Amino acid sequence: GAVPKYVTPLAVPQVMPPVATGAGGDEYTIGLRQIRQQVLPASLPATAVWAFGSAAHPGTFRWPAPTVEARVDRPVRITWRNQLVDADGRHLPHLLPVDPTLHWANPAGGTEGRDSRSAARATPQGYAGPVPIVVHLHGGHNREEFDGYPDAWYLPDARDIPAGYARIGTSYQEFEARFTERAGGARWSPGAARFEYGNDQRATALWYHDHCLGLTRLSIYAGAAGFYLLRGGDADLPPGVLPGSVPDPDDPAGARPHEIPLLIQDRSFRADGHLHYPYAGPEGAGGSRDGTSAGGHPMVFGDTMVVNGATWPVLPVQRRRYRFRLLNGCNSRFLLVSIAAHPTARPARPVLPFWQVGSDGGFLPAPVEQGRLPLTIGSRVDVVVDFSDLPVGTELYLVNEGPDGPAGHSGQEPPVADPRTTGQILKFVVVERTGPDRSVPPEQVTLPAPPRLGPADRVRRLSLQHAGTAGHSGPLLGVVDERGRGVPLPWDAPVTEVVGLGTTEVWELHNFTGETHPIHLHQVQFEVVGRGRSHNQPPGPAERGLHDTVAVFPGSVTRIKARFDLPGRYAWHCHILEHEDDEMMRPYVVVPAGA
Ligand code: C2O
Repeated sequence: GAVPKYVTPLAVPQVMPPVATGAGGDEYTIGLRQIRQQVLPASLPATAVWAFGSAAHPGTFRWPAPTVEARVDRPVRITWRNQLVDADGRHLPHLLPVDPTLHWANPAGGTEGRDSRSAARATPQGYAGPVPIVVHLHGGHNREEFDGYPDAWYLPDARDIPAGYARIGTSYQEFEARFTERAGGARWSPGAARFEYGNDQRATALWYHDHCLGLTRLSIYAGAAGFYLLRGGDADLPPGVLPGSVPDPDDPAGARPHEIPLLIQDRSFRADGHLHYPYAGPEGAGGSRDGTSAGGHPMVFGDTMVVNGATWPVLPVQRRRYRFRLLNGCNSRFLLVSIAAHPTARPARPVLPFWQVGSDGGFLPAPVEQGRLPLTIGSRVDVVVDFSDLPVGTELYLVNEGPDGPAGHSGQEPPVADPRTTGQILKFVVVERTGPDRSVPPEQVTLPAPPRLGPADRVRRLSLQHAGTAGHSGPLLGVVDERGRGVPLPWDAPVTEVVGLGTTEVWELHNFTGETHPIHLHQVQFEVVGRGRSHNQPPGPAERGLHDTVAVFPGSVTRIKARFDLPGRYAWHCHILEHEDDEMMRPYVVVPAGA
């Protein structure tokens, strides 16, 4: 049946409570648990989801998780606990079907790469064993052992882990050894990992999510994600300039009612309220498929839009300015959002513009007025919307005109999102203002300039392409050879991107596939240098800040530039989660000069 729209108020994630704060930083213990949440309207069944929350406060577990509020240069330490166990301490199976034919973090299959592919290990019911996790702070500038490397996973500390199962991934052991060498202390305890984030980067919106090899698409689909808002430092604005930039003095929770993070995701549901994920692997390997694909794991497009963990919510907005921290957390769907007066009509000119002030890596050089705003999968966009001049009672809609399938070059390929379902996201209802709006009109705000990198030390040519081999039919990353041809490489092929510590590189991303891929690099915030095969077309005004994820259009070359200043092993990958889990991901290493 149809899911009624605009009956559930938008949920704004609460602030994650620390377990300790002191001169040395903030300490958190964050678990990932299975809970039931009213994702659909209250007239429909609740949904089992995976939710992060403060392990000390059982009421805080939610999809999306409470927001970690961090300050620039003030360390945050998080013990990430895998609490995917039942009340008796026995492991919970994955909420969604595991595809045993992918290269995944199979605790039963050993941790030696391709062993885990073996379809023979799958039972007809699929994998029902304990689920490994590892958390990545997306956009964070963090040491390798705290970055959430996909092979650095760990199981819950369940009492029924079968004999012979690996409790931690191989990379976890490696990182643990290196960490112990460097810092002289263990950070692993059964079912948990303690990560330290230095927050030595520009103020911006980051997000955290599971990053376990071959399971990321399922664990994020189940709800394992939250915001991490980094504030302060030279690259932030003084309090009071942007809406919500000072907590409301009348609000005891210290909330920022006029600054609202919006995690936008598409999902499908069964009639019983359970999340429906359409593909479990090829038939014959214990799986079933009702997705479609030209090859490899199919992309997944839900038929229902979810914002902050509820379907099609409604948000009362006062006649004032708001700051929205937008995040496209979809598995495969690019979004093109705008504000419309009608839920299904799509006039050429949106009723209200967005004033975009920031991208992944903090503020842009200057505010940019955007009628339609492209939201790349995994990326964050910081905007101000001014509702001041609208009459009380006005109803507006956040709508989506992105494609209902793979994205091509324009971002508006047919079929465009169905105006009756995935073409709608959120409803705004204008109400009276309760206090003064002292924020500066967005077009008058002077933003802190993003830093510019100097000339690059080297240019690296990399590829996105279909492997087209019997062993793998989906898209992969790889290198471009001297003749300009792509050489596709799976996740476990030897590292090809070896970067000198402290050097600046241009990465030329040659997309030989027919669709757009959101390419994400760990560790760095990069500049978009431009696009174009031979001749460089500089980025538009909204891409002149810093990014950790960039849309790489089909048949084109995208140039990005970054400085790599942390040694170690990191990942870069397509953030279409179905591609990332199907090996469109590569390791890269940063090594000291002369090493
Ligand atoms: Cu948001 Cu490597 O991921």
